Amino acid sequence: MKERIRNVALRSKVCSAEAAAELIRPGAVVGASGFTGAGYPKAVPEALAGLMEQAHARGEEYRINLITGASTGPQLDGVLAKVNGVAFRSPFNTDAAMRNRINEGETEYFDTHLGQVAGRAEQGNYGKFDIALVEATAITEEGGIIPTSSVGNSQTFLDIADKVILEVNEWQNPGLEGIHDIWDGNVSGMPPRDIIPLLTADGRMGGPALRVNPDKIVGIVKSNDRDRNAPFAAPDENARAIAGHLLDFFSHEVKQNRLPPSLLPLQSGVGNVANAVLEGLNEGPFENLVGYSEVIQDGMLAMLDSGRMRVASATSFSLSPDAAEEINNRMDFFRTKIILRQQDVSNSPGVIRRLGCIAMNGMIEADIYGNVNSTRVMGSKMMNGIGGSGDFARSSYLSIFLSPSTAKGGKISAIVPMAAHVDHIMQDTQIFVTEQGLADLRGLSPVQRAQQIITHCAHPDYKPMLQDYFARALKDSFGKHTPHLLQEALSWHQRFVETGSMLPA
Ligand code: COA
Repeated sequence: MKERIRNVALRSKVCSAEAAAELIRPGAVVGASGFTGAGYPKAVPEALAGLMEQAHARGEEYRINLITGASTGPQLDGVLAKVNGVAFRSPFNTDAAMRNRINEGETEYFDTHLGQVAGRAEQGNYGKFDIALVEATAITEEGGIIPTSSVGNSQTFLDIADKVILEVNEWQNPGLEGIHDIWDGNVSGMPPRDIIPLLTADGRMGGPALRVNPDKIVGIVKSNDRDRNAPFAAPDENARAIAGHLLDFFSHEVKQNRLPPSLLPLQSGVGNVANAVLEGLNEGPFENLVGYSEVIQDGMLAMLDSGRMRVASATSFSLSPDAAEEINNRMDFFRTKIILRQQDVSNSPGVIRRLGCIAMNGMIEADIYGNVNSTRVMGSKMMNGIGGSGDFARSSYLSIFLSPSTAKGGKISAIVPMAAHVDHIMQDTQIFVTEQGLADLRGLSPVQRAQQIITHCAHPDYKPMLQDYFARALKDSFGKHTPHLLQEALSWHQRFVETGSMLPA
């Protein structure tokens, strides 16, 4: 631990997880590190859950408001959700226990564009932050905090919280030191804000460590526990078909001189389909690729390894156990190819626009006009959250959405007459890809978009139903610009809620 806590004065602040958890009082607003299951605190939340359970058994309320970078894992969201210890949660969650609390209405939840969380926190939207709870690889001689497998919003939380608790996790590879680029410009604070001087995806602007006022540190806890590291599903036939359509599209765009031969910085969303596309790109014809994304998942790691991708910039890893082991064993190699930044930099619309990223995100459903629902099943049940999909979709050079054309064994169509919730308006969506094909909607009107999306993306079981709806809407809609039959527009969702299938009996 001496090598991990190199600042001698701070060693006196080492305490147990239980003692640190005691400092997080009922009602506290806690800003925690962690992004897509990486780099989140583990020991203190588990101890805190124990305290909450005891308090709840005594009939006392003991809950906190939890703000993070993005999703965490079972040792944070999971344990706190089990004891119903979170009153308010933001901005992104994938933990099943927390998802249940959210969908049962027990935990208030607001999903937010991940690039905007730091700014909203600075503005006081979440109240006054009592505690910053941040996982660290090491503390430097000067008292700098070396982040672990994600950076997220940690710098902002360290800046604005009254008190700081650090978890120094020995499981995290000490070789992570040097992979991060922590910039001290004003990205999300009081305007006027600084111009982020990032001209290429591989640029570095700052140093390796987060800054913190040592007087605010009230506890340093040693931990030794792994990140969530959930496995990805192996690409199935649908995912491979989606990847194939997209690769053909990229080749066509290169031939037309609308994309350079090495494409443009790639953003790839979370999820199995996006990961499968990266695996497809690793076998495709494109060389010298660059990643500018919010997460580095298995597919991107494989591309870095094969040399097909030159460098990848993100705010976090999102790896399977095998890939986590791979990176741990070969950190010296990967550290020269990966840069982890604060999430208000990785997801900065200005940088995304300047670099001209290609955004590739998954979706729950799209309507015939290309409005996308990324988050709410049947319009009301939260899946994960909008994540960084909005940061990238609106500001990228190309905005692509990917999905199998059906879900739940064909009982749900991913292409519907009207989306039951909209995260991405049609102005922010250009290309749709399902295993059925690719719809290129650039420059088209709503009616032209609908013709393309129904023809190329809908599943054969649902295509005639969509054609029928669209034809009748063209004839009978109140307005003919974006035709809809209002009484029928959400009837597919209602049918699913009532019968368990969008298909008529
Ligand atoms: N209705 C109901 N459920 C649906 C659905 C729909 N229209 N579409 C997908 N799902 C379900 C799937 O059945 C699956 O459920 P399961 O976990 O119970 O098997 C789950 O959603 C994941 O679907 P999958 O097809 O495997 O795709 P994915 O792993 O690529 O995830 C999203 C798709 C939309 C959930 C995911 O991309 C997401 O959370 N997006 C929002 C955040 C984001 O885009 N971030 C990117 C910035 S980095």
